[in-house]
Amino acid sequence: MCGIVGYVGNKKCRGFIIDGLKRLEYRGYDSAGFSCFAQSDYLESVKEVGSVKKLEQSLEKKSCDGFCGIGHTRWATHGVASQANAHPHFDCNRKIAVVHNGIIEGFEKIRNELIKLGHNFVSQTDTEVVPHLFEELLKEFELKDALKELVKKLDGAYSFVILNKDYEDRLILVRKKSPLVVGLSEEENFVASDFLAFSDKTQNVVFLPDESITVLRKDKIEIFDFSGNKLNVEAQKIDHKFNDVSKQGFEHYMLKEIYEQKQAINKTISFFSLIENLWGQLGLTTEQVKKLKKINLIAAGTSWHACRIAQFFIEKYCKIPAQIYLASEFRYMPFFRQDDSIFIFVSQSGETADSLEALRLVKSFGVPTIALTNVVSSTMVREADGYLHMQAGPEISVASTKAFSTQLASLFWLSNKIAEQKSLMTDVEMKKAENDLFIAAEILESSIENYKVKITGQLAPFYSKYEKFIFLGRHISYPFSMEAALKLKEISYIFAQCYPAGELKHGPIALIDEKTPIVLFSVLDELIYQKIVSNAQEVKARNGHLLVFAFEGQEELINLADNCFILPRVNPMLVPLAMTGLMQFFVYQITKLLGCPIDKPRNLAKSVTVE
Ligand code: F6R
Repeated sequence: MCGIVGYVGNKKCRGFIIDGLKRLEYRGYDSAGFSCFAQSDYLESVKEVGSVKKLEQSLEKKSCDGFCGIGHTRWATHGVASQANAHPHFDCNRKIAVVHNGIIEGFEKIRNELIKLGHNFVSQTDTEVVPHLFEELLKEFELKDALKELVKKLDGAYSFVILNKDYEDRLILVRKKSPLVVGLSEEENFVASDFLAFSDKTQNVVFLPDESITVLRKDKIEIFDFSGNKLNVEAQKIDHKFNDVSKQGFEHYMLKEIYEQKQAINKTISFFSLIENLWGQLGLTTEQVKKLKKINLIAAGTSWHACRIAQFFIEKYCKIPAQIYLASEFRYMPFFRQDDSIFIFVSQSGETADSLEALRLVKSFGVPTIALTNVVSSTMVREADGYLHMQAGPEISVASTKAFSTQLASLFWLSNKIAEQKSLMTDVEMKKAENDLFIAAEILESSIENYKVKITGQLAPFYSKYEKFIFLGRHISYPFSMEAALKLKEISYIFAQCYPAGELKHGPIALIDEKTPIVLFSVLDELIYQKIVSNAQEVKARNGHLLVFAFEGQEELINLADNCFILPRVNPMLVPLAMTGLMQFFVYQITKLLGCPIDKPRNLAKSVTVE
């Protein structure tokens, strides 16, 4: 979603800002803009709908550059993607420019008041109230007091960077909930919504505290709380560089990431097993782990599906209940504090606004919080009491693939580790669990190879003609069917509905017709497998078309299928992990035939930083 990059120093800023925006591009955006102090009396700016490349080309034509500037990539929330709605936004005299991430709640009221006072608005955005309100406040207050008044009037979660023509030597940074990070260097300083934007310039960073106002000059940083009190915030060293991730010969990042899964899982598990003080890093004592009575997991989207599957791991191995929450719903439900419980927040990016808000809520009740993320420098890792860092490597394609499978592997491993600590499992059994994971990761990859030709040549052309699908699963394969349906919807735009297979006869069976293929995911639990066979029979009895993901030896099911994938048998808890690669590859190939922009599906962003 939206990205902010800013610079103040003794070099021209345009090149750095464009470069920084390009590093944040993969998060998703629809327009981009730049502004700086140049020679004229007003702030110069260029905005473009579309790519940062387009912005770069327009800036070259205008030779717009300066020693202090800001850039932004926008993902539309208030108002369509247009030049007028792109950031920066300005006051009436074009002396104040603002780039903003997040949402200003209740901005319409402020906007109407400002219009009554004669302010001229040119966009539909919530952001535009900020420069106009600041302009108004500066008529009455000096800079610092105007900023204090400004934040008093703004609700929501936001971070913004302000240029003010009367103070050409500085950037003003304001942060409430949305992240902002400053990079400190010799005679130049940087700011961005993600430190990857400047990670090749400096590793010396200051993560700005929540509810803070910062004045950043080329050789000075001053941080205040919202009441104007000075804050002392230590800089920290981050040895995490931006890897310029290329497609390495693959046609899409998604395909490359599908093929990276085995390695990502193996690397993550090997990395976890070398952590010396695992419970300490998770913010727990061994006593707390032994006494655990309940584990809660909170996430969004694909990460939530991983949690739904992990519920089966926790309840089987740790023998305690697991409760899974959608982050966007959790905050609005009553909170029942329970002793001897923990909350694990699962997020690829560690920046998902809904999950972060849920984390803050849980923390306020004093219950231990753990972040499981793929980005160690993320807000979630900083704010949680403890963390586990997956080693999936940068995931660029918007549709999550290797992060999902690595989340599954991580949560399986952690459940076993907790069980071992609770003396429910021996160290030999723990080793076997790790080995089972490596086997499932191997099958995830080899099954793609086994069916690659059939999928590309036969199955994808056949199934890409359908306009809707029903996905069915049971027990541990039900949440997996949710993930499969989401993958198909988000990248191919084909409608897919998932159901627990046992629910078919309670209503959805009415949908079965020749126009709607049924995709059924099997399990390896013998009792539940038999129920799945009955569900397959229900489909066939109504002349439904059945595509089945089955396992070796499941002849009854295989014989009922119109088309079938047969995988080697694995630990029954790892059925979803084993099926993941094949399911993703199948969806990928359908989407490719339909000609959709696989890595950047319409309307989606990689990092969902607004609620
Ligand atoms: C779908 C997808 C999203 C994310 C969701 C949460 O392929 O990637 O559903 O899973 O937006 O994101 P994270 O995991 O970064 O919190």
